[in-house]
Amino acid sequence: MLAQEIIRKKRDGEVLGASEFQFLMRGLVDGKVSNAQAAAFAMAVYFNGMEIDERIALTVAMRDTGDVLTWDLDGPVVDKHSTGGVGDNVSLVLAPALAACGVYVPMISGRGLGHTGGTLDKFDSIPGYQTQPDVELLRKVTKDVGCAIIGQTGDIAPADKILYGIRDVTATVESVDLITASILSKKLAAGLDALVLDVKCGNGAFMATPNDARELAQSLVKVANGAGCKTSAIMTDMNQPLASAAGNAVEVRNAVDFLTGTHVDNRVWDVTADLGAELLMLAGVVPNVGQGRDRISAAFTSGEAVERFAAMVAGLGGPVDFVDNMLKYLPAAPVVREVFAETDGFVRAIETRNIGLAVIELGGGRRVSSDTIDHSVGFSDLAGVGQMVDREEPIGVVHALNDDQANAAAAALQDAVTISDTAPMNRPLIREHIEP
Ligand code: URA
Repeated sequence: MLAQEIIRKKRDGEVLGASEFQFLMRGLVDGKVSNAQAAAFAMAVYFNGMEIDERIALTVAMRDTGDVLTWDLDGPVVDKHSTGGVGDNVSLVLAPALAACGVYVPMISGRGLGHTGGTLDKFDSIPGYQTQPDVELLRKVTKDVGCAIIGQTGDIAPADKILYGIRDVTATVESVDLITASILSKKLAAGLDALVLDVKCGNGAFMATPNDARELAQSLVKVANGAGCKTSAIMTDMNQPLASAAGNAVEVRNAVDFLTGTHVDNRVWDVTADLGAELLMLAGVVPNVGQGRDRISAAFTSGEAVERFAAMVAGLGGPVDFVDNMLKYLPAAPVVREVFAETDGFVRAIETRNIGLAVIELGGGRRVSSDTIDHSVGFSDLAGVGQMVDREEPIGVVHALNDDQANAAAAALQDAVTISDTAPMNRPLIREHIEP
């Protein structure tokens, strides 16, 4: 087979077969297909698209360039994936809650992408926590604790790692076909029995419109099921940060407060309960979502979810007393300041993407992939849409490295938040369920 012939076929809008995708993806990892050829292939897919069978074949070919885990456990192996947003720390609370419900969650997560935060960056704010353990440690913690949240190691879908880097610099990220294969190749490499996808929609998501989000959700659900993993998706609103915190250490603190019941953001609760219930149903643990929500709720109220979280942190190298003493361990920014709106009133709308960008400006995200980040910075106590704010009630608290950065972030937050005299209409948080 010749790479250039396969690229030519896709350039001319023809349908490719499984062996052609295998040849390209294996060749990319072995060095027999060049980065230039992979870029041309990505651009041809960007313009001509792929049929569902082609997407399945590409996903499987990418998955099979690395390790595909198999498990011998006494419960189903499941995972959740979010397409990315601001203040989305659901994985931190959902994985231990699912573990408490008797399923196993080997969660392979990513770093921040664009303006969105990444689960791995959040865990990197916990001293000692290994986000890149070897597969043996992943297996051990998953088996002993029920959940392990880690990053993509070199052994998991290496073709995706290479192709993603090429797409990032060749204007080929925004292809539903390629996004589908990229996300699912990593997830399916974890050897899952069931997967639930949180497809974000709104001004803080990659897919701003319901139509685009639905198209991605349907593609992900069809391809994952076609590749043999029971999968459904939920489209959720991302027109405001999900949690009242956005950053890294601040989101970990928010998640631990959620797990201990010290402070529970209702929106995080709703999305967590919905995704968890859907997943428990897909995995055959409960017969309906109502019972699934009850099980997830009990995992939190019984304290079992927080115990699993603490055991996961310790098992992956973090402090054994992290939950009890998190403020001792989490990095704290030197400047912490309340930010007030210029007028009193209701929060009408939030430019969510700009809040994500302000976190990057503070140093909490990356401008280029080689950047190191500061885990202490970000926002906490963010007011939600519909909330009344005034001279006493801030729109948020900024955590910054110095006064100049605090001032700039405060101004960005003020610009991002629109205040009005009347309360806005309630927008549904859970927009749609996309079933197989
Ligand atoms: N996340 C991924 O892992 N891949 C993409 O292509 C986009 C988002």
